[in-house]
Amino acid sequence: MEKILSVGNCHNQLWFVLLISFLLSLILLLFDRTALIGGDQNGITFLVNNFVNHHPTQTRTPKSFDYVASTSTTEDKKETKSFGSDLCSGRYIYMHDLPSQFNDELLKNCHSLITWSDMCPALSNMGLGPRVENNPGWFVTNQFTLEVIFHNRMKHYKCLTNDSSLASAVYVPFYAGLDVGRFLWGFNISVRDASSYSLLKWLAGKPEWGRMWGRDHFLVGGRISWDFRRQTDDDSDWGSKLMFLPESKNMTLLSIESSSWNNDFAIPYPTYFHPTKINQVIRWQKKMRKTKRRYLFAFAGAPRPNATDSIRSELIDQCKSSPTCNFLGCFDGASKCDDPANVMKAFQSSVFCLQPPGDSYTRRSTFDSILAGCIPVFFHVGSAYAQYLWHLPKTYTEYSVMIPLDDVKEKRAAVNERLLRIPKNKVLAMREEVIKLIPRIVYADSSSRRETFEDAFDIAVKGVLERVERVRREIEEGEDPSIGFSELNGTKF
Ligand SMILES: *[C@@H]1O[C@H](CO)[C@@H](O)[C@H](O)[C@H]1NC(C)=O
Ligand SMILES: *[C@@H]1O[C@H](CO)[C@@H](O)[C@H](O)[C@H]1NC(C)=O
Ligand SMILES: *[C@@H]1O[C@H](CO)[C@@H](O)[C@H](O)[C@H]1NC(C)=O
Ligand SMILES: *[C@@H]1O[C@H](CO)[C@@H](O)[C@H](O)[C@H]1NC(C)=O
Ligand SMILES: *[C@@H]1O[C@H](CO)[C@@H](O)[C@H](O)[C@H]1NC(C)=O
Repeated sequence: MEKILSVGNCHNQLWFVLLISFLLSLILLLFDRTALIGGDQNGITFLVNNFVNHHPTQTRTPKSFDYVASTSTTEDKKETKSFGSDLCSGRYIYMHDLPSQFNDELLKNCHSLITWSDMCPALSNMGLGPRVENNPGWFVTNQFTLEVIFHNRMKHYKCLTNDSSLASAVYVPFYAGLDVGRFLWGFNISVRDASSYSLLKWLAGKPEWGRMWGRDHFLVGGRISWDFRRQTDDDSDWGSKLMFLPESKNMTLLSIESSSWNNDFAIPYPTYFHPTKINQVIRWQKKMRKTKRRYLFAFAGAPRPNATDSIRSELIDQCKSSPTCNFLGCFDGASKCDDPANVMKAFQSSVFCLQPPGDSYTRRSTFDSILAGCIPVFFHVGSAYAQYLWHLPKTYTEYSVMIPLDDVKEKRAAVNERLLRIPKNKVLAMREEVIKLIPRIVYADSSSRRETFEDAFDIAVKGVLERVERVRREIEEGEDPSIGFSELNGTKF
């Protein structure tokens, strides 16, 4: 894989190679670019930045020679054909310039966003959080800052346009999670819903809305979708009703955990790792392949004593009584669970990492464990398989283990016995699959990017663009545009 780096770093030579190839157009057409990039042994589908010189303001006139390599998909073939024409075609995104109350002001008031802690450090470095000393690419990232990270990545998105008529999709940079997070505890529904109403009024008044009644619009929430899906107007019910307001029913929500409505899409929680370059990722992957794993399994978390259905206490008991389990207890004020060094160390020294549901189905810990090359063990399909459809492959058994919740509850399954039964070569193959997922689940640091790889942000944007394209086609064909929006998808979980 080291060859990739030299390709990425020598654009001039590559330009020369591509020029020759272009002149010998037949060769170019038949050219297998996976050979050019030294093979794809790691299965990393990366793309060297399409635009060597990064000028966000000039995206409408991209330079064709900047096109280096991409994944070998059908989309890729289209791009090869349009060599020399607009590479952003079909990928332009228009980002609304929202009144600052919907984003920047929330950042300015970071000291008072939640009463029991100061969110300012977590929101520093464009949402990545404080840097980990002497560890480039690592940050103390909070699990609820995805909307800020996403917004900052979008500011550097190579196909951003100010001409909304060119745009395939419209991004609404509302910090929905930070906004409602202020009012989740102890506030009445009119306080919780106020921003949602004013945002949607603002959006619906814009010319961009009229084109597709918002069906090309998307927003990103750094909290779970249920926080925006209050179903009654009872003050004791949880969350805001952002996603049940008429305009939102026409939009798509990306968040760290989706609900069962089908305009909801889950994208990975942020981890602690935000590399700027693919070589940082490759180095990390190598390290995770070689690292010694002393424990069979690990669990980092706290019990849920008040949730009668929770299997966490049972798992903690099993973990504590097994010498092959590494338990990282995260009880009230246990800041060791927010310390990247602690969490990564625990996961790096374990073969499997348990990911039981907690307050909701999903956990940030799932992505920390993938990052550490620790094979995730799930207990519910809602924890990952039915969630991260764009980011995690459907070949679930190749990179994870499933132990049904009821088996644990009814004490049919001793976790260590189940895990010990998996043959060693199968374990090695699974770990390799997990390590291959790393580039897909990290959010790259946008502050100093020149060459890039396909990260969680790129995959999310691709997912949105494909969805909007499909909806647009259906509308053109006269189909009901509400299909795929705000219906309850009963088959999801
Ligand atoms: C869009 O316009 C804003 C303000 O005029 C400018 O700062 C920004 O660079 C422009 N973006 C693009 C992609 O042209
Ligand atoms: C909701 O709470 C706000 C402030 O906490 C208060 O001003 C308002 O009157 C309350 N609204 C209702 C309908 O109770
Ligand atoms: C939502 O989309 C439908 C068309 O599919 C449109 O009739 C309706 O007015 C839109 N709702 C809003 C609030 O814009
Ligand atoms: C569990 O419930 C008790 C009594 O209702 C409450 O005092 C306690 O704070 C709850 N614990 C948690 C972890 O929610
Ligand atoms: C329901 O969810 C499943 C799995 O998440 C998905 O494959 C299917 O397309 C969804 N159906 C609709 C109608 O959105």
